[in-house]
Amino acid sequence: MEVVREAAVETEARSEEQPGWWRNAVVYQVYVRSFADANGDGIGDLAGVLEHLPYLRDLGVDALWFNPWYPSPMADSGYDISDYRSIDPNFGTLAEAEHLIAEASRLGIRTIVDIVPNHVSDQHPWFQAAVDSALGSPERERFWFRPGTGPGGDSPPNGWQSIFGGSAWTRTEDGGEWYLHLFAPEQPDLNWTHPDVAAEHEDVLRFWFDRGAAGVRIDSAALLVKDPELREERADAGPGEHPFTDRDDLHEIYRRWRAIADGYDDPRVLVGEVWLPDVDRFTRYLRPDELHTAFNFDFLGSPWDAERMRASIESSLAAHAPVDAPATWVLSNHDVTRPVTRYGRADSSFAFESKRLGTPTDLARGRRRARAAALLAMALPGSMYIYQGEELGLPEVEDIPAERKQDPMWFRSGGVDPGRDGCRIPIPWSGTTPPYGFSPNGAERSWLDQPGDWAPLTVEAESDDPRSMLSLYRAGLRLRREAPWGTGAFSWFPSGDEVLAFARGEDFVCFVNFGPDPVPLPAGAEVLIASDDLEGGAVPQDTTVWLLNPLGQGEKGR
Ligand code: GLC
Repeated sequence: MEVVREAAVETEARSEEQPGWWRNAVVYQVYVRSFADANGDGIGDLAGVLEHLPYLRDLGVDALWFNPWYPSPMADSGYDISDYRSIDPNFGTLAEAEHLIAEASRLGIRTIVDIVPNHVSDQHPWFQAAVDSALGSPERERFWFRPGTGPGGDSPPNGWQSIFGGSAWTRTEDGGEWYLHLFAPEQPDLNWTHPDVAAEHEDVLRFWFDRGAAGVRIDSAALLVKDPELREERADAGPGEHPFTDRDDLHEIYRRWRAIADGYDDPRVLVGEVWLPDVDRFTRYLRPDELHTAFNFDFLGSPWDAERMRASIESSLAAHAPVDAPATWVLSNHDVTRPVTRYGRADSSFAFESKRLGTPTDLARGRRRARAAALLAMALPGSMYIYQGEELGLPEVEDIPAERKQDPMWFRSGGVDPGRDGCRIPIPWSGTTPPYGFSPNGAERSWLDQPGDWAPLTVEAESDDPRSMLSLYRAGLRLRREAPWGTGAFSWFPSGDEVLAFARGEDFVCFVNFGPDPVPLPAGAEVLIASDDLEGGAVPQDTTVWLLNPLGQGEKGR
């Protein structure tokens, strides 16, 4: 392997100047409904999370991000909130949430809560008051109520389409006005030009920060502001001109939120869910007085391909550097196909539009690549997200019968989109048959069924297996904490087309072989960890290795 250094990207050196735990944190995403069910009702709960905090501590994570845990009719699995200051009774109580935050903190783990500012549940008191009030009433102004078009006002006010499919407008039951919902009809969009809306959310932020939350994950963060004229989408719209995505007025909202977060002694952190293909528009949200970090969906969506991954890493680092924000490395979450399944496909990229049932999958290959991807993500500068079950290598469950499906993406697409239930299956903890320790024995059927062949994927089984995905995650995260790269800067190693290799500092190299031919290691390099067995000193296909002292003896510490 030829070891030649390219110009270093000075991301880490700059980060040194501004320490902050979130800059290189490992954040573990807890989908409460499927994490652990302590009370036996078949639904995960806060008591279940509390019980398993030692597991999370031992895994070596810095923070937990909880998907929405608030009271919700669950039309979109909790992203339809009816009360932002309480806990859904299926999950527990507010006192339990406070206790959980405190206990996690005692174990050195911070808590990030999910805030959903774009929409509320149709059962939220504001929306209930709005539909109970007359046309043109102030209660309706907190939402987007509009008369219909066409004869009798029977057609929606405009042609906007819901992200879940179908029109983004639903008519009120009395056959009067229509209201806007970018997601399901049970999730009416708020009108962010209304002062109540901004004031309410600022108060909700303080509510959770005052209870010890270290930060918030902001749902659908680029959608809050709408074109007040409700103009149609245009193919030739310039940056910031889309009628409901990435509008410039959003930044002012996040500046106010940042001031609130910075007002705490231990400043709170804002993490944005910002899906934008334009990486420069994306990083505008990460300017020093706005959000701290945002999920890197470009990396998440990249196919398992050396060139595409390299391009994604390079553009991410380059775009984050000028705003001095850390990049984040995300392989999965509760919305996307599980990595071991996705990477086992001919097209291993992720896009909602192309997600279909019946796609041929080679799970063994996917698992091997997911292992390699995990070590790659752990070695990159910035912070990392792990979605529960990713560390167990759970596959996407694709044979959920229609009558058991829950996700509105499945319903609203008329079954064209398989929906997101397959990545939300309850975690297998122990034992050889469902519920695999997710619920206590004799509990009610879990809200989504677990497959019958998950015995080898339980935490218990994987803990005893040094070759398991869990053992790899534990070992990789342990090494990551030791930061074998020190404080050195990131630089690329030119390598063959099928290899992605980068250095951090002088002594550390991460090396990923995507191609069919094994690639020999440089002489003298010490292997810190490998995602799979090496072949007589060479790195086989779909394998990542971390190397120490790759420049050979005598070069160390140059
Ligand atoms: C975000 C969430 C997703 C939810 C949607 C609407 O994309 O991650 O799960 O359905 O927002 O709130």
